[in-house]
Amino acid sequence: MICLGVETSCDETALALVRDGSLVDSVLATQVDVHALFGGVVPELASREHYRFLGPLFDALMQRAGLKTQDIDVYAVSRGPGLLGSLLVGVAFGKALALAMEKPIVGVNHLHAHLLAVGLEKKLCFPSLGLLVSGGHTHIYRMVSPRHFEVLGRTLDDAAGEAFDKVGKILGLPYPGGRLMDLLARRGTAHEKLFPRPYTDNNNLDFSFSGLKTAASAYIAAHWKHASPLVSLEHPEQAPQDLCDVCASFNLAVVDTLCIKMSRALDRNPDIGTVILAGGVAANRLLRQRLQDLVLSRNGQLLTPTPELCTDNAAMVAYTGWLLAHAGGQHPLDFEVIPRGRSLPDDMLYREGNLASA
Ligand code: KG4
Ligand code: ZN
Repeated sequence: MICLGVETSCDETALALVRDGSLVDSVLATQVDVHALFGGVVPELASREHYRFLGPLFDALMQRAGLKTQDIDVYAVSRGPGLLGSLLVGVAFGKALALAMEKPIVGVNHLHAHLLAVGLEKKLCFPSLGLLVSGGHTHIYRMVSPRHFEVLGRTLDDAAGEAFDKVGKILGLPYPGGRLMDLLARRGTAHEKLFPRPYTDNNNLDFSFSGLKTAASAYIAAHWKHASPLVSLEHPEQAPQDLCDVCASFNLAVVDTLCIKMSRALDRNPDIGTVILAGGVAANRLLRQRLQDLVLSRNGQLLTPTPELCTDNAAMVAYTGWLLAHAGGQHPLDFEVIPRGRSLPDDMLYREGNLASA
């Protein structure tokens, strides 16, 4: 079974093909440069860029894979959460192809896809605990099956990636700042007590990163000048030592906070040994190391996709679509697009007899 995945939930336009659970090929056009001028994603520009790129990307992908549209057995599209206009462009593209080619379509939960993506590289097992850390979301899930995810904790305000990006902006670093702060943190020395571990003095699995952002901005305002415009991903060596130290302290505060809650989640789910880490922030080196140590100390295993599969991509959408379609699932053509802030309905239809395996 060949599944085409379409991803347009934010600022990456991406398409990928998965055949029988393995990646055939993928293409991606990033809009980072367009939005960097504004210091954040501009929704209207994002939709226009998706609209501009989808057609040519589809032709390029099919040509490279040596496949024809008729060869695609099922379509999978990110249906949310994300930017409404951006999602609509991708979903309309997928629905039009499915309608014209008379093939089934699956609307994919973008957040679930981030966590399931590792199945392209390693064997998934259920139940698992999933930590999704991206620019828009910080969620802890109990993953019961590819279809059933139970939310155990979520951020009450800023997402972890958003906190990195906002503090990066205050430091005068180019947007998005997360990856660069990670690089600078590796060159710095962290001061453990400089920043708080927010919202950990409680009994739950939720997060709140806005207080950490406020603490960091107050510290930066009092002690720090704006970073040199020469500091960039290409030139981290231009960063002075004290900038690297601030990044290291902030990085440690975010990673400690995530690990405190994950340790608690493991305590409360003693039947689970496998943790999946995904989303853009999962590329963070310290987070990967610390979570690996935590899981190993409990004789468990950590599954993390390679960095290309951590950030937004269509391989994860195609793979999730394939998993769900393989189990007999599909959506009616009038399925809804779900913007950020609304939960996705469980409205997938299943062929009789296949429900149990989903
Ligand atoms: O999952 P993603 O590509 O997009 C969505 O938000 O859906 O995540 C992007 C986020 C950005 O906030 C970016 O700054 C952050 O992931 N990020 C990182 C790292 N690489 C990307 N944050 C910390 N350390 C990194 N290495
Ligand atoms: Zn994402």
